[in-house]
Amino acid sequence: MSATILITGASSGIGRETASYYAKQGWTVYALARSADKLAELAAENPAQIIPISLDLTDLAAMQAWQRSLPATVHFDVVLLNAGNCEYVEAKDLDLAAFERTFAINFQAVVASTKLFLPKLHAGNTLAIVSSMAHFFPFTRSEAYGASKAAVSYFTESLRVDLADTGIKVCLIEPGFIDTPLTQKNDFSMPFLMPVAVAAKRIFEGINAGKIRLRFPRRLGYLLRILSLLPYGIRTKLAARMKQS
Ligand SMILES: NC(=O)c1ccc[n+]([C@@H]2O[C@H](COP(=O)([O-])OP(=O)(O)OC[C@H]3O[C@@H](n4cnc5c(N)ncnc54)[C@H](OP(=O)(O)O)[C@@H]3O)[C@@H](O)[C@H]2O)c1
Repeated sequence: MSATILITGASSGIGRETASYYAKQGWTVYALARSADKLAELAAENPAQIIPISLDLTDLAAMQAWQRSLPATVHFDVVLLNAGNCEYVEAKDLDLAAFERTFAINFQAVVASTKLFLPKLHAGNTLAIVSSMAHFFPFTRSEAYGASKAAVSYFTESLRVDLADTGIKVCLIEPGFIDTPLTQKNDFSMPFLMPVAVAAKRIFEGINAGKIRLRFPRRLGYLLRILSLLPYGIRTKLAARMKQS
């Protein structure tokens, strides 16, 4: 029997590419997102391996119904909670609805999916959660996105502590800039922008190797970490200068 992965946000970007990569390695892939048409295109690449699941992760009742409909024999070797969205906000007139939407998909849906799919993971299996490097540095207009990713990183690390006795591995994935529809909307320069195919390979190999944290591209991770070690005042001035440029 082939190994099985559930990937959320599989209709686009990192999730789509990673779903395709796992399927090519012979895995059975449950590919979940809202866009049925995009998922059908993905599944057409490899109908024997890819099972499209069209669902809204923020619709808890629909998610619960689908989880309950899964046969008891179905379990996942890996659950990759990747779906997310980025909305920029204006500090002088904060868009509260943007915060609600961002936290609904980037945070609440991750917590709800963890609760729903934990019973489908056994000792030795992996729960992998996609956060971001965004919360390493105070980027301009990122109050909603960065805060949601800081929350999801903390959630994941705390979860790892509390699941240690289950034998389920918890992997925190914190990408930098990856070339996907999400970043193609950005109008600023993105240092060390990584092709999405490279990101998918890093995720596959990192999870397979049992890594508990993945950060790529590494050079951006090191740069942001160095910036975070600077005296607070200098770091704040640098962040303000980035805003003006
Ligand atoms: N690209 C980057 O540079 C970068 C960097 C750091 C972290 N990340 C994180 O990586 C993840 C994937 O990002 P990406 O760049 O691949 O973005 P993307 O191309 O925009 O893909 C986002 C995926 O999430 C799905 N999604 C959004 N809302 C959903 C909902 N309510 N229910 C179900 N699925 C939903 C979308 O599918 P539907 O619209 O079909 O539902 C889509 O498949 C996100 O968590 C993002 O924050 C990305």
